[in-house]
Amino acid sequence: MISSRIPGFYNLSPEERAKKVVEFANLTENDISILQSVLPLDDADRMIENVIGSFSLPYGIATNFLINGKDYLIPMVIEEPSVVAAASNAARLARNNFGFMAEATYPVMIGQIQVKTDTTQFSRLKILGHKEEILSIANEQDQVLKKLGGGAVDLSCRIIDDYLVVHLLVNVKDAMGANIVNTMCESVASKIEELTDGKVILRIISNLAVERLARARAVFGKDDIGGSDIVDRIISATDLANSDPFRCATHNKGIMNGIDALVIATGNDFRAVEAGAHAYASLGGYHSLTSWEKAKDGDLAGSIELPMPVGVIGGGTMSPYARLSLKILGVKTSTELSCVAASLGLAQNFAALRALVSEGIQKGHMRLHAKNIVKIAMDNLVSEDVDYAAKFSDKAIIDKVSDLLVKEGSINVNRAKEILKDV
Ligand code: MEV
Repeated sequence: MISSRIPGFYNLSPEERAKKVVEFANLTENDISILQSVLPLDDADRMIENVIGSFSLPYGIATNFLINGKDYLIPMVIEEPSVVAAASNAARLARNNFGFMAEATYPVMIGQIQVKTDTTQFSRLKILGHKEEILSIANEQDQVLKKLGGGAVDLSCRIIDDYLVVHLLVNVKDAMGANIVNTMCESVASKIEELTDGKVILRIISNLAVERLARARAVFGKDDIGGSDIVDRIISATDLANSDPFRCATHNKGIMNGIDALVIATGNDFRAVEAGAHAYASLGGYHSLTSWEKAKDGDLAGSIELPMPVGVIGGGTMSPYARLSLKILGVKTSTELSCVAASLGLAQNFAALRALVSEGIQKGHMRLHAKNIVKIAMDNLVSEDVDYAAKFSDKAIIDKVSDLLVKEGSINVNRAKEILKDV
């Protein structure tokens, strides 16, 4: 297995980086060309309604991830600068210990059936008494899933106000599961009406996927991350997140920066993952999805736990882009993908907190911002004077001018043009 630790990856050109990924994941050149192609209009038109085109976003690779002893390159689709670099950097530091250790529960999703009945208590027990019958109706909907060892596995009932709410627990194996859970919930509705002498109001999956959790842990050496003071400050920053929802929303958003980028790259439903994460964080009072503690030796011990309803088959995961991402990741099961997602979330949170409690996050952002400004200045100059065009194709010039802009602290197109003329 080739290591995902690739020093200087960020300094390579996109083509050189692609070559490294091809090598790492044993891809063909054709595989990578998928990323340079646009989604065919016909395919887009089949996916949603009223299509007039498609929309692309940058596709980056987070390096350095070692999870449960296995190396991963993680594809990330995101428009925000610094996120991919931050995750890679955190993963590099985590490698100094054991990288990330991660695990996930069985992929069990919950479907809800809301029932209006006059006898909520009586009906609750009656439904529980007919559990096997209801589960077998649900399982008739997908024999293949049942054969694979999945399917409807349990049932519970809650009384909420005047309603009986039946929870159908479905092991969806390697799918995200919304389709099959919704189908199963719809299939058992008439039986539930018959048993409760009631009326079913709605039948739908719950995104608060408390039965489908992913967990990850990592230790960051205090000397690797700037000393004990940084360890203490990261813990204090997390204390604030746990006490203040205004801070916690941003803290958890940083975690989701990484997770969403992976979820999108693998064609999964990022709204479902977002909804589940924040709803889970709100149980018992809105709190951080991560914990940061000082280990005995003074190192920083981090952990994360959150619902992770992601699949590797069905829906958007079947698109060529998503298939390629799964191939780069080398993941075969939804459980393994969940472990990668949780590790990435933990890495992202560590990187954000470390930057926030030390130099701040703007410096990193500014470097990329400056590069964009230099590119705009180049384009302006090229359109004013074609002689400049050849010289400006050099990446080293962009780096040099953008470094100067950052150093001067005045990142604007006019100043970039002046420096470019001198260069
Ligand atoms: C920015 O997208 C994410 C951060 O705000 C996260 C955080 O504040 O923890 C940097």
